[in-house]
Amino acid sequence: FDVLVLAGGLSHERDVSLRSGRRVAEALRDAGVSAAVRDVDADLLAYLDDARPDVVWPLLHGSTGEDGSIRDLLELVGVRAVGTGSAGSRIAWAKPVAKTVLARAGVATPASATLPQSLFRELGPHAVLGRVLDRLGLPLVVKPASGGSALGVSLVTSAEALPQAMVSCFSYGDVALIEQAVTGTEVAVSVVDLGDGPVALPPVEIVVDDGPYDFDARYNAGRTEYFTPARLPADHLAAACAVAVRAHDVLRLRHLSRTDLVVDGYGVAWFLEVNVAPGMTETSLFPLAAAASPTPLPELYRGLADVARR
Ligand code: DAL
Ligand code: MG
Repeated sequence: FDVLVLAGGLSHERDVSLRSGRRVAEALRDAGVSAAVRDVDADLLAYLDDARPDVVWPLLHGSTGEDGSIRDLLELVGVRAVGTGSAGSRIAWAKPVAKTVLARAGVATPASATLPQSLFRELGPHAVLGRVLDRLGLPLVVKPASGGSALGVSLVTSAEALPQAMVSCFSYGDVALIEQAVTGTEVAVSVVDLGDGPVALPPVEIVVDDGPYDFDARYNAGRTEYFTPARLPADHLAAACAVAVRAHDVLRLRHLSRTDLVVDGYGVAWFLEVNVAPGMTETSLFPLAAAASPTPLPELYRGLADVARR
């Protein structure tokens, strides 16, 4: 069968997406699948009508790639696609919404406030940030309410640093999610569902040489050390896997996802966010986790495309 990988697009994560797309197409070809990569441009709809691929794999990160838009479009075209549909994508893309839904399902997620830029203009930034500090304390993580690859994300350890963190955040989006920073082990848990229900891959522990797990630490080889499985007690690993599978289930995600968490010293796995289009680059977490699972990566990708086309 043949797979059309969509990569690129016009988000801040365009280059990451092109890298992900190339890697997945290569792996699919290694597994004997005919795979082409295509960008999203004015010819896409005509191309889809003409080429009629058996399945499309959208590896578009950020904005229209992950917010449900491309999924709606593919549903309009009537083509089968790997991954979560538009409804699940919309919820996962809105981090505060995903946190709320999971908190209601009994999952721990850091206390937070979600504040749009307009409110800061109306009320004055200092008044609002003062209340944030009173209520949430320090340290904090400031991030765009929707976004990826840690763009616009800051770890704030002093009150003086908060205004600058807000400015960085608002350069990537109009709404800020300000969260209490939980101390613990940073872990990513990938989940796959090949038709028999969601299964967690081994959790990957993230250890950055210096500073936060930012864009540079994510994509420049050597900055970050990864441990698969994470160096945690078995019950802490199980807690992280349980949250990732629960997120996949509760948000009705499909085929694959990656949940990012912090596991604290008591073994509580704190949900941060879930990605419907996890990065698939040479330094990304999903392929690292898959490499530690019994199924070789090309076979796993082939399996995901295969389950999506049926
Ligand atoms: N947003 C990037 C691609 C990730 O989650 O891996
Ligand atoms: Mg993300």
